Amino acid sequence: MSELNLNAKRVIVTGAAGGLGRAFCERLAAAGAHVFAADINDVGAAQTAKNITTAGGFCVSGKVDVSNHESCAALIGLAEEKLGGLEVLVNNAALYGTLSRAPFEDLKEDEWDRVFSVNVKGVWQMTRAASGSLKSSGNGSIINIASATVFSGSPQWMHYVASKGAIIAMTRVMARELGGDSVRANVIAPGITLTEASLNLMADAKTYGANRAALLRNGEVDDISGGVLYFASDLSKYTTGQTLVIDGGKQFI
Ligand SMILES: NC(=O)c1ccc[n+]([C@@H]2O[C@H](COP(=O)([O-])OP(=O)(O)OC[C@H]3O[C@@H](n4cnc5c(N)ncnc54)[C@H](O)[C@@H]3O)[C@@H](O)[C@H]2O)c1
Repeated sequence: MSELNLNAKRVIVTGAAGGLGRAFCERLAAAGAHVFAADINDVGAAQTAKNITTAGGFCVSGKVDVSNHESCAALIGLAEEKLGGLEVLVNNAALYGTLSRAPFEDLKEDEWDRVFSVNVKGVWQMTRAASGSLKSSGNGSIINIASATVFSGSPQWMHYVASKGAIIAMTRVMARELGGDSVRANVIAPGITLTEASLNLMADAKTYGANRAALLRNGEVDDISGGVLYFASDLSKYTTGQTLVIDGGKQFI
């Protein structure tokens, strides 16, 4: 599918049971990466691995709760065992499609806390569990999935938008703290992209992009995968601390 050769690069993708995470796994494996598909939904992650191995690629799967330190540490141990090391971590898992939307005055405190526990603390927990392996690789790359809502200030889900803004800030710290060990850290901020989760969340998801994007269409999962391949590969070897917005050109309209 891709002419890019990731040359058996060892990659973990979280949130890999479907949607964008599954697409990332499939594109990475098609480019030659050895992929570990991880999700709290281990059945979905196993299906991702099955799709890939059936197509001739390398993928194993496992369960992780990114908000839990022990679970993240166990996942890294398993990935070390199954992949033999780790060059790339894609922090994609998040609470997203099932979130309630309301003016910020009305958001529920327990949901705010859950969003921050998974979307923010989860990225920290996974990355700190993986940092030793990434440093040892001598050529590590962390790819954090945020959202273009950070820049548009999308109304009625401040908890989600704030969590994704935190990821951009955290990525800059990661870039500074890990750069000396040749580990880079970057963000992809997708605009609305057609997945089961986005269709569940937004009644107008199917027409949203066509009405607002410079490219006059919605984002598809493969539009976002291109950014993941770039940051996973050595093409981005002098790029760190950056945020790549992939939204078909909505921000300047
Ligand atoms: N689809 C879009 O339009 C869009 C736009 C911008 C950003 N994003 C981001 O892209 C990513 C993927 O979105 P998607 O549309 O594929 O949604 P999705 O809901 O299909 O993907 C999220 C995945 O994270 C997993 N997950 C949730 N909690 C977890 C936990 N505690 N531990 C491990 N895994 C957990 C879920 O099981 C799910 O498979 C998310 O980070 C989302 O915020 C999506």
